[in-house]
Amino acid sequence: MRALIDFFRRKPAVPQLVGTGLHAAGDAPGARVLVCGASGAIGAAVATAFAAAGARVFLHAHRNGERVAALARELHRARPDLPPPHCASADLRDAAAAQALLREACVAMGGIDVVVTAIGGAKDAPLPLVDARDIAASIDDNLLPVINVCDAYRALPPGPRGGRIVNVASVTGLVGQPMRVAYGAAKGAVISYTKSVARELAASGITANCVAPQVIDGGLAKLMNARVRAVLLANTPIGRACTPQDVAHGVTYLASPAASFVTGTVLTISGGLVTW
Ligand SMILES: NC(=O)c1ccc[n+]([C@@H]2O[C@H](COP(=O)([O-])OP(=O)(O)OC[C@H]3O[C@@H](n4cnc5c(N)ncnc54)[C@H](OP(=O)(O)O)[C@@H]3O)[C@@H](O)[C@H]2O)c1
Repeated sequence: MRALIDFFRRKPAVPQLVGTGLHAAGDAPGARVLVCGASGAIGAAVATAFAAAGARVFLHAHRNGERVAALARELHRARPDLPPPHCASADLRDAAAAQALLREACVAMGGIDVVVTAIGGAKDAPLPLVDARDIAASIDDNLLPVINVCDAYRALPPGPRGGRIVNVASVTGLVGQPMRVAYGAAKGAVISYTKSVARELAASGITANCVAPQVIDGGLAKLMNARVRAVLLANTPIGRACTPQDVAHGVTYLASPAASFVTGTVLTISGGLVTW
């Protein structure tokens, strides 16, 4: 009984960004942000939004290192008052590579307040052509990097580690899409993984959330079946496609002190396509 009373009296840890003034897009002086997948359409927009807000960003790529190198130059030209962004390449399906990346980012920036994963791959195929190997490959491409990055972040000592994880999932992980059964399964797994991580890490001052964007123009959506895409857009009450910047605004909100009581949630950025 005593233990139970003590449990309820215990002061919960308050998740916050240690030593930063990150408030919202437009004001993030000093925040140290690792963007995994910054070579992609959404990751680049996320990195740009944080940098524009005054955050220090570390840009990760997998195969397209030259894209983050170019983005780093662009961001530095826009904000010469900030140290130039560091870049690194890693295949984040590999746990050791994820640990090495986070260590490198910690050394480069003195810590990581926010880690964002904007990583994934998709292949459209109708249900009869999808087998267990396709599902496993999609889990490898979409879930495994998220697990490896979250694990590596959790394992950092609390000093250099701030307290924000934001994973980019997809509305497909919530409502499914025809032709995207493997991708939907993997994105659904990213969402449920993030929810459990959030519950388990809340007491150590870390929040973990997802954004679930609608289809954008570009990025993985370039691979999407045109008919499926048209139906999706026709059913979007705000009659336009999502932009990478729409997604970036959601990410910067979830990384900000304004969201310090928000964890384990999915922020849908879907123009009303998903309303729950
Ligand atoms: N595009 C959309 O309409 C849409 C909608 C909803 C959600 N999303 C989600 O948003 C995220 C970003 O997608 P995007 O559209 O920006 O796609 P994208 O432009 O193709 O970017 C994908 C990113 O993932 C990285 N990546 C792929 N495999 C990796 C691996 N094994 N290890 C580490 N990094 C890896 C890529 O790195 P390299 O390019 O350097 O190889 C790239 O930075 C994904 O999670 C996607 O599911 C996209």
